[in-house]
Amino acid sequence: MDPLLIVANLKSNKTEEEAKTWAEELNKASIQNKEIVVCPSFIHLSTVRKILSPGIKLGAQDISIFDEGPYTGEVNGKQLKEFVSYVLIGHSERRESFKEDQVTLEKKVNQAIKFGITPIFCVQDENTEIPENVKIVAYEPVFAIGSGNPDTPENAKNVADSIRKKNPNLKVLYGGSLNSENVRSFTNTQSIRGVLVGGASLDINEFTKIIEKA
Ligand code: PGA
Repeated sequence: MDPLLIVANLKSNKTEEEAKTWAEELNKASIQNKEIVVCPSFIHLSTVRKILSPGIKLGAQDISIFDEGPYTGEVNGKQLKEFVSYVLIGHSERRESFKEDQVTLEKKVNQAIKFGITPIFCVQDENTEIPENVKIVAYEPVFAIGSGNPDTPENAKNVADSIRKKNPNLKVLYGGSLNSENVRSFTNTQSIRGVLVGGASLDINEFTKIIEKA
């Protein structure tokens, strides 16, 4: 069976110095049979890559819908490919605050795949449309994100099962108020093969505990 996938989404947090210290500490974590992915801000990808042990992968928090060119502020797949193996697409924060719709999200998935980057596609419930070619889905109910109010493990499992019923090849992660105390209750089922961690990943001691306990 694939190792559990544990993803840290640092969102729009950390200065250069803070990101460095965080990455140095992560290298000390005991990582056995788990795949760790770190998604820092774009500006920290280069620094963090130099520090992290080779076994730890990097992910981007976004990807341009365009190839390289005159698109001010955008970071494109060709650039990202130099740094990352994964990219988060469809996060509810981007759907809501940046009005990313299904057409945009599909373009982002296509750009990722075109450049050999694996999309981690966030869905808010079992009915969220999942673009073709997506292999990894993160179930992240909006009420659970950053609220301290995670979904129940039972419901998360049911949602994961109904997503996989439609497409048995999908690997489903859970995200939303995940921490070291509750991680195991989500990962102790075959239905959920990893976690996407936001707030609790900012504290490296807590993130290390999540890795150890998952
Ligand atoms: P949270 O965020 O862990 O802070 O709830 C999860 C996410 O947004 O990916």
